[in-house]
Amino acid sequence: MHAFVKKAGFSLLLSLGAISVAYALPADFMDKLEADSRPAEDKARDGARRPYQVMELLGVQEGWTVVDVAAGGGWFTRVISAAVGPNGKVLSQVGARALQNNNGQAARDMAAALGNVEPIFTDVAEIPAGSADAAVTALNFHDAYNGRGEEGGQAFLKGLYDVLKPGGVALFIDHEGDDGADNRALHRIPTEVARAQIIKAGFQIVAESDILNTTADDHTLSSSDPILGRDTDQFLFIVRKP
Ligand SMILES: C[S@@+](CC[C@H](N)C(=O)[O-])C[C@H]1O[C@@H](n2cnc3c(N)ncnc32)[C@H](O)[C@@H]1O
Repeated sequence: MHAFVKKAGFSLLLSLGAISVAYALPADFMDKLEADSRPAEDKARDGARRPYQVMELLGVQEGWTVVDVAAGGGWFTRVISAAVGPNGKVLSQVGARALQNNNGQAARDMAAALGNVEPIFTDVAEIPAGSADAAVTALNFHDAYNGRGEEGGQAFLKGLYDVLKPGGVALFIDHEGDDGADNRALHRIPTEVARAQIIKAGFQIVAESDILNTTADDHTLSSSDPILGRDTDQFLFIVRKP
């Protein structure tokens, strides 16, 4: 039996069976987000990035292992760390390029401070297959697709697919682009292009949300243009490996 739930700008198809689905985040989730130890520049982005709502959409459970793909400065790594709790684990994938900067010390320091984070200095494809309950890819896919077209997009998505356990879920966020625009130069991708690539890679799309949409971004500026203050119009999918 299925129930189609609509709330606060998203829709989600829930499978109702013998197991009940509890999407509660840990009681101390917000305390960890507000902690003095969390960087001020991370907190400054919470209004636009909506960590509580986004983690709820992903349905993260305490104790899960979650891959943060191309984690960059670690905004999502810190959020996921709070969501999975001390018995969970974040594989914070920063890749080999992070080693060029003081041998990856920033990623190592973040991992040491959070306690449930392991920095990954390889590509996602080198993480053992089937090792994650969930993954997050935020603002990365446009580079893979715009750089090498469908071949690059599918290679990126194969890494994401393989690292998940069967039934594993992924949060997929990127900068919205307009069809026909120079999205390679603008560092964007149209929702429909991403959707087609996700489906082609074998994922099911289980939810789609407009909670990261903003009309203040008309898609004509580069996603990194300072005028946008990093608050771009973004699409969000929750996808599932069958
Ligand atoms: C736009 S940032 C997004 C960071 C993060 N996902 C977030 O949403 O906060 C993209 C990051 O991907 C990193 N990156 C690019 N190619 C990568 C690769 N092959 N492996 C790991 N990281 C990569 C870049 O260095 C950059 O920090």
